[in-house]
Amino acid sequence: MNPHEQRGKAPETAYAFLEGKFVPLHEAKISIMTHAFLYGSGVFEGIRAYYNSANDEVYVLKLIEHYTRMRNNAHILMMEITQSAQHLAELTCEMIRKCGYREDVYIRPMAYKSAQRIGLKWDKNHEFMMFAVPMGSYLTKERPLNCMVSSWRRIQDNAIPPRAKVSGSYVNVSLAANEARENGYDEGLLLNEDGSVSEAAGMNIFLVRSGHLITTPVYDNVLEGITRACVFEIAKDLGIPYEERSMNRSELYASDEVFICGTGAEISGVGSIDRRQIGDGKTGPVTNKIQDVFFDAVRGNNPKYKNWLTPVWHR
Ligand SMILES: Cc1ncc(COP(=O)(O)O)c(C=O)c1O
Repeated sequence: MNPHEQRGKAPETAYAFLEGKFVPLHEAKISIMTHAFLYGSGVFEGIRAYYNSANDEVYVLKLIEHYTRMRNNAHILMMEITQSAQHLAELTCEMIRKCGYREDVYIRPMAYKSAQRIGLKWDKNHEFMMFAVPMGSYLTKERPLNCMVSSWRRIQDNAIPPRAKVSGSYVNVSLAANEARENGYDEGLLLNEDGSVSEAAGMNIFLVRSGHLITTPVYDNVLEGITRACVFEIAKDLGIPYEERSMNRSELYASDEVFICGTGAEISGVGSIDRRQIGDGKTGPVTNKIQDVFFDAVRGNNPKYKNWLTPVWHR
């Protein structure tokens, strides 16, 4: 099996939460007539949890923030999630304990339109589901990514709001991610219709120019990333100036460093874009500093960032 096929698979013993109860993951099924399956009308989150072997603890990263974002996003699709972010967080920890995970995991919750009939218009019905699968780090620090600017453009707020993390809208970034892979690159970067940079396929993007961090603003059709907010916090603590502003494609090539960040990709350095080397082609010093703080923080090894983490086993 190649690594793409292996990634994100669950063990036989895993549990999911579906329609109000825990069920074995292999029994967690929905009807093929479900609106979200037919029309992509779900909002989801990707959440990581990190295992700390010294403490024998699994720490879920920014759990409340993820559920707060999900509840706000569901509202855009006119789904009001009645459970509080706190309650959903507790259910998530309970599920991880039921699965017995003592390793790094990736959690996928989704609120989705659950009516079973043909027709675009939304009913009131919606459901909540989640599952978790073991998932190690995306890539090592030593291996910066080779990226391409995709020929696909980023969807705009007035088409499908990218900030809403709508399941159906992920065809957009999948097209870019797949195009990159088919052409021998690691990841695709998407431009907006006006040619400005939006984000990577499933990650936010940062440039480093003369020691300053720059990322694209929320109005440039990006997901308001939680890792992006972690980077801001780390940059502030390290005294690295940062700003949010639009950028052109050529600014990517002219940067000293580029990195992408997101729950899945964590913080990953970019070594080249469209075959143009970025800096010296290695993960740059500013990226390295931010990565070091981030990876310590998420595993519970830096007390300063303990408030980012929800422990699963020792409550
Ligand atoms: C399109 C897109 N942009 C950015 C991100 C990064 O967001 P976060 O850091 O909240 O995972 C994600 C991933 O979740 C994403 O899907």
